[in-house]
Amino acid sequence: MDIWHIRGGNRLFGSCRVQGSKNASLPVLAASIVFPARSRIRNVPRLRDADAAVSILSHLGCSVGREENELYIDSGLVADADIPRELMAEMRSSVIFMGALLARCGEARLSLPGGCQLGKRPIDLHLSALRAMGAEISEEGSDIFCRAAKLHGAEIDLRFPSVGATENIMLAACAAEGRTTIHGAAREPEIVALQNYLSSLGAHISGAGSGRIVICGASARETTDYTVPSDRIVASTLACACAAAGGRIILSGVNYEHFLTVLHFLNEAGCDIIHFNDIVEISSSGVLRAPGSVITAPYPGFPTDAQPILMAALLRAQGTTQFTETIFENRYRHVSELRRLGADISVDGTQAVLRGVKELRGETLTAPDLRGGAAMVVAGLTARGETRVVDAGHIARGYESFDDRLCALGADVWIEHKGKGTYEDASQPDQPAAFQQARRV
Ligand code: UD1
Repeated sequence: MDIWHIRGGNRLFGSCRVQGSKNASLPVLAASIVFPARSRIRNVPRLRDADAAVSILSHLGCSVGREENELYIDSGLVADADIPRELMAEMRSSVIFMGALLARCGEARLSLPGGCQLGKRPIDLHLSALRAMGAEISEEGSDIFCRAAKLHGAEIDLRFPSVGATENIMLAACAAEGRTTIHGAAREPEIVALQNYLSSLGAHISGAGSGRIVICGASARETTDYTVPSDRIVASTLACACAAAGGRIILSGVNYEHFLTVLHFLNEAGCDIIHFNDIVEISSSGVLRAPGSVITAPYPGFPTDAQPILMAALLRAQGTTQFTETIFENRYRHVSELRRLGADISVDGTQAVLRGVKELRGETLTAPDLRGGAAMVVAGLTARGETRVVDAGHIARGYESFDDRLCALGADVWIEHKGKGTYEDASQPDQPAAFQQARRV
């Protein structure tokens, strides 16, 4: 159990290179088994969820090596199509192994995935699309059995641009006979990242970033060297932290367009934003005004993952901000905790109304989920006195060395590690032998 201690009041100054994207890394790690290949994957953040994906790969029979933020995966042998329940429960992205295993082994035996409790999070779109491609799928309780003697291409219409369903279809379609077209596909940058990785291994795939993705099998290659793009939600979090606390920070290694909607609201709130190539600079007096109405939507709309974090940054902004959450039905779990700091927020269904207050006072809060936990850290940076965030490992699932990064920018934060369960406890030692082979890729 980690307990974050945040002493509010410090402004943030300096520069920070933003980590690789969690939500881009995880589908790429699952995709590494689609073809028998050796992949060097750079810029993988050191996170619990990445460790969970590595555990699944190792369980399936892959050889995985790691050196800092690089992973080497040899998927020449995939000996098992079964993922134990405890590995599936570690994270949401484990569900992407369904399409990957179907593509590689023609079968997959797994169970419903874990991840943040943001709502019902069904996988009906994943299952109906895979069935349309020829998979036979049966469900027993939380267990899922998939089999496909032969996958075939299909025209798939997604009624909602689900990120996970789009990823699963892309992976399965790499092994399907004929052409698969996804209409109404998710357009998130993570989908583009997955397309780039699959293309680097010889998949014939195009259209990612638009609502129509076409996959026509593959002429598989044996090796690839791929770099994961930066994490747009971590970039958004650091930008929101600076906006709330005041100061001037430079984020490097980022793609400005990927978190443009978040920067737009920070600009409306009174921050100065400058961008050049892969650098974004945010300056804030720390005195913000409410930017109006924030509505979450699939990309390129405002990201649901940034909703709790922007809310935390605006707790002291002058005026009223209206939030509308359209993606997940249970995404205001941070609100009751933020109120304990003195925030004035009311929630009615999908709507939350935030009225800026003059002052926040430190309190002990409990992180409900990954982004909710990050929101509490951002809020704590502007509260009087000390805020403590009791975090059951949520923040470490998405933010790499977040305490060190904030401290380097001038924040007064530290983590008390109580008992087992820290990232360091959980992480496996590097595997230099496997990594040495990687150098020959
Ligand atoms: C991914 C991200 C998550 C982000 C979300 C939306 C990862 C690991 N997680 O989650 O951080 O918040 O995209 O940008 O990449 N839905 C269905 N049926 C389905 C699938 C989804 O009804 O079969 C609904 C969900 O309940 C939800 C909405 O569609 O209301 C969006 O879900 P989806 O885009 O699939 O999100 P994830 O892939 O789970």
